[in-house]
Amino acid sequence: MTTGLLIDALLDARSVELELLEGLTDDQLLGRRGHFVEPPIWEVGHVGWFQEYWILRGLDGAESLLPGSDGIYDAFHVSYKRRWDHAFPSREGTLAYIAEVLRRCMARLDSRTPSAEEAYFYTLAACHEDMHTETLTTIVQTHGYRRPGLSRFDPVWGAPEVDVAHRPYDVHVPGGMFRLGADPREPFVFDNEKWAHPIEVKPFRLSAAPVTNAEFRAFVDDGGYHRRECWSRRGWDWRRREGAGHPLFWIRDGAGRWHTRQFDAVLPLEPWHPVVHVNWYEADAFCRWAGRRLPTEAEWEMAATYDFTTGRKRRFPWGDEAPSPERASLDFRAGATIDVRALPEGDSPVGCRQMIGNVWEWVEDTFHPYPGFACDPYAEYSQPYFGEKKVLRGGGWMTRSRLIRTTFRNFYKRHRRNIVAGFRTAAR
Ligand code: AVJ
Ligand code: FE
Repeated sequence: MTTGLLIDALLDARSVELELLEGLTDDQLLGRRGHFVEPPIWEVGHVGWFQEYWILRGLDGAESLLPGSDGIYDAFHVSYKRRWDHAFPSREGTLAYIAEVLRRCMARLDSRTPSAEEAYFYTLAACHEDMHTETLTTIVQTHGYRRPGLSRFDPVWGAPEVDVAHRPYDVHVPGGMFRLGADPREPFVFDNEKWAHPIEVKPFRLSAAPVTNAEFRAFVDDGGYHRRECWSRRGWDWRRREGAGHPLFWIRDGAGRWHTRQFDAVLPLEPWHPVVHVNWYEADAFCRWAGRRLPTEAEWEMAATYDFTTGRKRRFPWGDEAPSPERASLDFRAGATIDVRALPEGDSPVGCRQMIGNVWEWVEDTFHPYPGFACDPYAEYSQPYFGEKKVLRGGGWMTRSRLIRTTFRNFYKRHRRNIVAGFRTAAR
């Protein structure tokens, strides 16, 4: 890893963070309590604090530029219940802090080659900021703030030509021995992906594309939210507690037409876009209604990567090359979900489409460590959540291509529905 690439990643992650913040009014900087999201101003300070913690303080033993920062921005050691109780630095103060941290991180690498340890922590900081630009986007969506005006949006690209004769279908996957997890030759992975290990997968079928709004609407219209038999016990408890009757941002008008809220705009529901902002219980209930089930992690990864003709696992569904716009909707390019029929060049060897990008996909599994698990330096990243959260795979339209891989495991509590999460369904 060269200095230039590390710095480019930090600057690129930061440019999105800053554009997202710019779109917020001063009144919106604190967000609102109680929606499973953080205050926007906390998000911005937190990414700078994280960079400072692992690079300037961790590698060089420096003092924090912002005395007391640990008491505000340490996500793990400061309770979420206290997120709104801090005297946050102002917008200008927060920006000055994170800019100075970044400047110093860049300066300390000036005209020299980074060590492997440095490359690791710089990459970690960039990926962490990428996760939080995703979170900040989720906050803007959750509160219905103005659509972010990101310079990287490309609405023309986001509305591609599709094959209108296309109908939803399953691919058949023969199963067999599969190596689940990351290859040790990968340049950077998280501890929860380590390492590829053999696992037996039975033959199964998997929907070639994520479940669409039209498909999910059939479940809603059929009274699926009110049929006890479609829900697990915990799912039914959740549904009744919330009074949920449709996906979080869906709105039905007086004439019975469905719309969906995207940021601050209400738009007609796009039948061929993936259903999004459903939680694990809703995904599971749809599956039961449809006589299907969520895929396991191993099934998902096998369908995304395994080339049965060569017996090789690919890095990405389409091959070993990094994501490109012809193959995956990532990097905020679309500014929203896109049609599930688009991007055939990104198909996996068995013919699954959009396994990378567009929407995160819930899978059946609870988040567990792989055999031989050991924590990486950022020990609170994965371990506290094992056995509790559910796994999501593949990344969404706002996931950065630098972050995502077919072996990447995201994880959220099963009731979380404001994230860009959909799912695909399996059978047998
Ligand atoms: C892995 C995306 C669920 O946002 O809570 C960010 C990532 N960890 N800062 C989250 C994370 C610490 C995490 N997710
Ligand atoms: Fe964080």
